[in-house]
Amino acid sequence: MADDQGRTLEGCEEEQLIKREKKKFTSSVLIACVIAASSGLMFGYVIGISGGVSAMKDFLAKFFPSISRDPSKGSSGSGNYCRYNDQLLQLFTSSTYIVGLISTFGASYTTRDLGRKPTMLIAGIFYLVGTVLNAGAQSLPMLIIGRVFLGCGIGFGNQATPLYLSEVAPPHLRGGLNILFQLNITTGILIANLVNYFTAAYPWGWRLSFALGGIPSLLLTLGSFVLSETPNSLIERGYLTQGKQVLEKIRGTDQVEEEFNDLVEVGVASSLIKNPFRDIIRRKNLPPLICAICLQFFQQAGGINAIMFYSPVLFETVGFGSNASLVSTVVIGGINAVCTIISMVVVDRFGRKILLLEAGVQLFIAQVGIAILLGLGLKDSVNLLTPMQAMAVVLMVCLFISGFAWSWGPLAWLVASEVFPLEVRSAGQSITVSTNLLFTFAMAQSFLSMLCVLKYGIFILFAAFLVAMTLFAALLLPETKGIPIEEMSGLWKRHWLWRRFLDDFSMEITGVQARRVLWPEI
Ligand code: BGC
Repeated sequence: MADDQGRTLEGCEEEQLIKREKKKFTSSVLIACVIAASSGLMFGYVIGISGGVSAMKDFLAKFFPSISRDPSKGSSGSGNYCRYNDQLLQLFTSSTYIVGLISTFGASYTTRDLGRKPTMLIAGIFYLVGTVLNAGAQSLPMLIIGRVFLGCGIGFGNQATPLYLSEVAPPHLRGGLNILFQLNITTGILIANLVNYFTAAYPWGWRLSFALGGIPSLLLTLGSFVLSETPNSLIERGYLTQGKQVLEKIRGTDQVEEEFNDLVEVGVASSLIKNPFRDIIRRKNLPPLICAICLQFFQQAGGINAIMFYSPVLFETVGFGSNASLVSTVVIGGINAVCTIISMVVVDRFGRKILLLEAGVQLFIAQVGIAILLGLGLKDSVNLLTPMQAMAVVLMVCLFISGFAWSWGPLAWLVASEVFPLEVRSAGQSITVSTNLLFTFAMAQSFLSMLCVLKYGIFILFAAFLVAMTLFAALLLPETKGIPIEEMSGLWKRHWLWRRFLDDFSMEITGVQARRVLWPEI
C-alpha cells in the first residue's frame, strides 16, 4: 500500500523510526538538564534565602541594629505593620534584582556573540563570588556587594540557561523542560527555606545559610566546562561543521539533515538582524512583546514576592514566633514545588489559558481573605492575631501559592518564550527576564514600606491587580497550546485586537528568502 506521495507503508514506518530515533533523550541532554538544574536551583536559593535570614536575630543585630525586635515600635512609624519597615533591609533583598536586570542586557550580547556555554560559566563565577562575600560578610556594604554579584549571576544565568535548555531539548520535550527550569527554581526556594529553618538556632547560622549556595554555584561553574555549545549558537556564529557535529551528538543519530537545515535557515535570518532590540519593537512584533511584558508584570503585581521574600517577617508580624514563621515558610515552599509539578503534568492537556484564568480567581480570593483577616484582627497598636486567625492567614497564603505555582509562576515564562518569532527570540528573552526583575526589584524594595503605610490595604491593592491580570488573560492572551512556534503569526492574525498589528506582515523577509540570497549552495 502506498500513500498519496507514493511511499510504501514500510517506508513510512521507517521514516517514523528515524524520527523517533532523532528524539532520543541522550546523555548530552541529561548533562544539560543537570547543569541547567543547578542554575535554576541557585536562582531559587537566592530568592528563598533572604527572607529567612532577615528574621534571624543575630543577622539583624549585626547588620540592621535599628530594627526593633519589640513589636510595639517599628524603626519607622509605629505598630505591627511597621515593624520591619527599613530601607536598608529592603535594599539587602532588592539590590540583587536591580543588578540582575541591568546585567541581563550584557548577558544578551555574550549569549549571542560568545555563546550560551561561556555565559553560563560567567554566571557560575558571579554566583561563587557573591556567595563567598555574603557568607564572610563583616559589614553591610560587604553584604550588599555580595548580593550585587549574586544579581549578576541571575542576569547571566537566567538569560542563557532557559535558552540552552530549549535549544538542546528534543522538540517533543521542549515545553516540559522549560517548566523544569521553574521547578528547579521552586526547589531552590524550598531548600533555602529548609536550610534557614535548621540554621536559625545558631548565632552563625546565617553565614552557613549563605555559604551553602556555594554548592549549586560550584556545580554550575564546573559543569559549564563539560557542556557542549548548542548547535543553534554555533550555526548562528558561522561554525556550521561543528554545529552539525554537536547536533548529531545530542540527538544520538546522524539523521539530522532536516533539523540542521532548519537551524541554518533560522541562523541566517537571525544573523541578518543587526540590532534585535530595534527589530523587536517593529509593528509586527508588538503583540508578542506586549503580551510577554504584561505576563511578567502581572506575575509580579499579584504579590508573589511579597510572600516569597517576606513571609517569615510577615508571619512574625501577625504574631508567630520565629520558629513557627520558618516552619510555615517551609510548608509554603513545599506547596510551591509540588504544585509546579502539577502544572508540568497538565499544561499540555488543559492548555495555558484555563490554568491562568482559574488561578486568577483563586489568587483574588486568597488576597482578599488575607486583607480581611488582617483588617479585622491586626490593629495598628500592639495586639496580635489570635492563633485561629493567624492559622487562617497561613491557609490563605497556601491557597495563593498553590494557584500561583500551577499557573502564573511557570506559565508566564513558558508563554513568553513561545510567542516570539525565532529571529528576535533572544532579545525577547532578555526583555522578559528584565521585566520580571524590574518588578521583582520594585516589590522587594517597597513591600515592607507599603505594608507600613497601607496596612492590610496592600493586599486589596494586589487583589485589584489580580482583576486586571485575569481580564488580560481572558481578552488579550491567545492560547498557545500545541501551536508550533513557526505558526505563531497565524495566531495573532486570528485575534480580534492583535490582527490590526499585522497588516505589514507580507512585507517581511522570511528566513527561506534570506537563505536563498545569502547561501544559495546550502
Ligand atoms: C517568579 C519569581 C517567584 C517564583 C516563586 C517565579 O516564576 O518569577 O519571582 O519568586 O516564581 O516560585
